[in-house]
Amino acid sequence: MTAALALAGLGDIGLHAHLPALLRNPAVRVAGLVDPDPDRRALAAANGPAYADLAALLDDRTVHGVVLATPPWVTSELIATVTGTGRFVLAEKPVATSTRAASVLRDLPPAHRRRVQVGLTYRHDPALELLREWIADGVLGEPLLVRAHIHDERRDAALPEHTRRIETTLAHGMPVLHEGAHVFDWLAFLLGGPPLSVEDGWSLRTRRDLAAPNQCGARLRYPRGAVALVEFGWLTGALPRCELSFLGDRGHVLLDGRTFAMELHTADGVERVDFEPDRATRCFDRQLTRFVELVTGVREAPEPDLDDGLGALELSERVAGIAEEGARGEGTVSPARKYTGAGRPGARGRTP
Ligand SMILES: NC(=O)c1ccc[n+]([C@@H]2O[C@H](COP(=O)([O-])OP(=O)(O)OC[C@H]3O[C@@H](n4cnc5c(N)ncnc54)[C@H](O)[C@@H]3O)[C@@H](O)[C@H]2O)c1
Repeated sequence: MTAALALAGLGDIGLHAHLPALLRNPAVRVAGLVDPDPDRRALAAANGPAYADLAALLDDRTVHGVVLATPPWVTSELIATVTGTGRFVLAEKPVATSTRAASVLRDLPPAHRRRVQVGLTYRHDPALELLREWIADGVLGEPLLVRAHIHDERRDAALPEHTRRIETTLAHGMPVLHEGAHVFDWLAFLLGGPPLSVEDGWSLRTRRDLAAPNQCGARLRYPRGAVALVEFGWLTGALPRCELSFLGDRGHVLLDGRTFAMELHTADGVERVDFEPDRATRCFDRQLTRFVELVTGVREAPEPDLDDGLGALELSERVAGIAEEGARGEGTVSPARKYTGAGRPGARGRTP
């Protein structure tokens, strides 16, 4: 069966990652391309019928599902609209700008929730599967010290439109709210579940005129004694290396934050692992294959699902809140908080 899929949101990630993946997949027919911006529609129009409004496309009963590559401030309502018509959704993360704004998603009936796959794209990467095996097999030893340095969106004088777009996004919240969803999803996948606590956080603005701090970070405790130091930064004129590292008593893994090339250092030497093709292509392809399996009934449940998306959002928001308090304390760190996992069914309340 061919899956008839529409793409809503013809911006950066829609046109450069989702649309190519849809066009590469032989099991997909591109049923429509949606964006309110006529310039964005013009860029994509050669690849399928273009619409200004998703509602017009949803009148077409042959459409099975929609890929939402929209800003988080419109994504949650669109998820509710599309699942309400019986269609499947692959929704970009974050699924909302805040847990409060995500209330429409928490209220979705179970049958609608089961039709939502969340675009935590890089959890599909084979590099993470291999690293998880190494960790579980004790190749690195336990407990682990994890460092995640996520620096992106360089301020480039030659790309003023890009800078304007990222500054607008920053006005909706610190980088952890946008990048954290991915990173916390990887860490939960690798370390055996979500963190037990967020110990402290910090944030700062590298320029006074920015709408929110563009640098922030936190210290988290994970199962089996792991400690993670995470930091997120945007909009500086130069960027530090984007990298994650996992250090245990027996070994050290460096994971390149952009390519997911890995280096395993142990007493036996250094092993380097690269995967083909490039990270975005392989992850967007694997993600779409899983979505097509969901749409066509081959797969029973979405992966990652809405609970994963809401859990990642809740944790990102909690870290942002703690990081902001840390900034207001002028050098003092904010007190330890327990991660509630709210947004996941059966989650326990916050431990004081
Ligand atoms: N999975 C990933 O690796 C990844 C990478 C980058 C961005 N993202 C996420 O993808 C989303 C989009 O990011 P982007 O960088 O492409 O943003 P963008 O601003 O470049 O594009 C968003 C597009 O959505 C359109 N849009 C707005 N409202 C719409 C509506 N109601 N219906 C249809 N289209 C609408 C806008 O006109 C714009 O063209 C964000 O949530 C972002 O966090 C994910």
